[in-house]
Amino acid sequence: MVDSQLSARALESLLGDWRGGGNAYVALFDRIRVLALDGRIPTDSRLPAERELSARLGLSRTTVSAAYRQLREAGFLVSQRGSGSLITLPVTPTGLVSVASAGILDFGKATMSALPGLADVAALAVSDLPRHLESSGFDPVGIPELRLAIADRYTARGLPTDPQQIMVTIGAQHAISLLAHVLVGRGDRALIESPTYPHAYEALREAGARLVPVSVTPAMLGEDESVAGWDEDGLIQAIQRSNPALGYLMPDFHNPTGLSMPAAQRERVLAAATRQGTVLIADETIAELNIDRPESFLPFAAYAPAGSTGSVVSVGSVGKTVWGGLRVGWIRAERPLIRKLVAARSARDLGTPIIDQLIVARLLGDMPAILAERTEVLRAGRDHLTQALATQFPDWHVPEVHGGITTWVNLGSPVSSQLSLAARSQGLVIPAGPRFGIDGAFERFLRIPFCYGFDEIDRGVAALGRAWESLLRHPVPETDYLADVV
Ligand SMILES: Cc1ncc(COP(=O)(O)O)c(C=O)c1O
Repeated sequence: MVDSQLSARALESLLGDWRGGGNAYVALFDRIRVLALDGRIPTDSRLPAERELSARLGLSRTTVSAAYRQLREAGFLVSQRGSGSLITLPVTPTGLVSVASAGILDFGKATMSALPGLADVAALAVSDLPRHLESSGFDPVGIPELRLAIADRYTARGLPTDPQQIMVTIGAQHAISLLAHVLVGRGDRALIESPTYPHAYEALREAGARLVPVSVTPAMLGEDESVAGWDEDGLIQAIQRSNPALGYLMPDFHNPTGLSMPAAQRERVLAAATRQGTVLIADETIAELNIDRPESFLPFAAYAPAGSTGSVVSVGSVGKTVWGGLRVGWIRAERPLIRKLVAARSARDLGTPIIDQLIVARLLGDMPAILAERTEVLRAGRDHLTQALATQFPDWHVPEVHGGITTWVNLGSPVSSQLSLAARSQGLVIPAGPRFGIDGAFERFLRIPFCYGFDEIDRGVAALGRAWESLLRHPVPETDYLADVV
């Protein structure tokens, strides 16, 4: 595998607010370990030289050496003569049980098991297959019946759509990655919410984008709830000043905060993007999982100024509503962009599987009933989790969320990475808050999914309780670590 050099500056930005607890070298070791476990420092990345990192972080060389030594001993770093220290993952992480083994809960995946009855629909879809068997089966744009069903669904939701505006993809992630490759030139700027869905910023970075973060503020304990939400001034200024090629937004049940953007704000943001020629991608993968939101919204693209066609692209999927194993998503865009996307696709893949498309084509007409069933499950999960967290962690701030699949909890102190590590030892995999930011922020936050059954939620909260206890036994000093390093 080809290794890549991580500069001291890039590592500093990934580390974010790392001086959170224990000795400085232990805190540095822990933070780098979490970054490796979360995949934010890919394996085979070469860490900066000790001297370079110590200068950048204002630490003694001994502190950095000690952290690197501990990473080596724990199996997270291999040193190769002449090529520095490369990040690796331990085959059996020390003190951890393999995620694959029984009894481990993976709250990193915020997703429900398959829709009940899906196997029956799949069996019926097989009977639709013969009429496609004469074709080559390589389908880069989508079978006509599915494009029509997707277009009809947008129209039913209040956004008139022609099937020609639809391209079927292998899930929403594929759609985001394809859009990033087609819309972003190397070095172009791309707006991204902060926090955001991590695989979106990864796709944008991979396409060569320079990311411009825009805050989405969760409702904070004791603060006016109306300050929560998108930093509209920041978002509009970022559009005007950095002239981004694209912006990636989740206007409904934003992942991870669960917030939704007000209608008037959608209009203003889209007007600014239209004036600037910035394409906004609205990821609506979770948008229809509405439990009890007081207002209802049209699909984001419906708020674009009349006559402005190219400024908004919608992405959707059945990954969160039906099942993640059904790899079908889609892009809604103007026809010229659809044509470009189809042309660009063949370097990456040769089309969406026909059988998956046939299953989804059968399901889309039933979406209202499917969504009613799914959101009832989510309502029960959300209420159960909220209650369990209130009992176990009365000091955490658990916001009110009206839909989606996760809640973004404020822990009250910057210990998310440590809590995430401690939780692993208690049988719970849960990504630390900084996984959802591009600059190491969000140490005070933890994303907790509520799409699991009561038993799993209870086990997860109990594991968090034990992990939290273990942190309390080793309290985190409030002082800045720079002070104790000489
Ligand atoms: C906001 C968001 N977009 C896209 C995806 C990926 O969806 P798909 O499974 O359709 O690729 C996810 C899955 O976690 C998601 O949360």
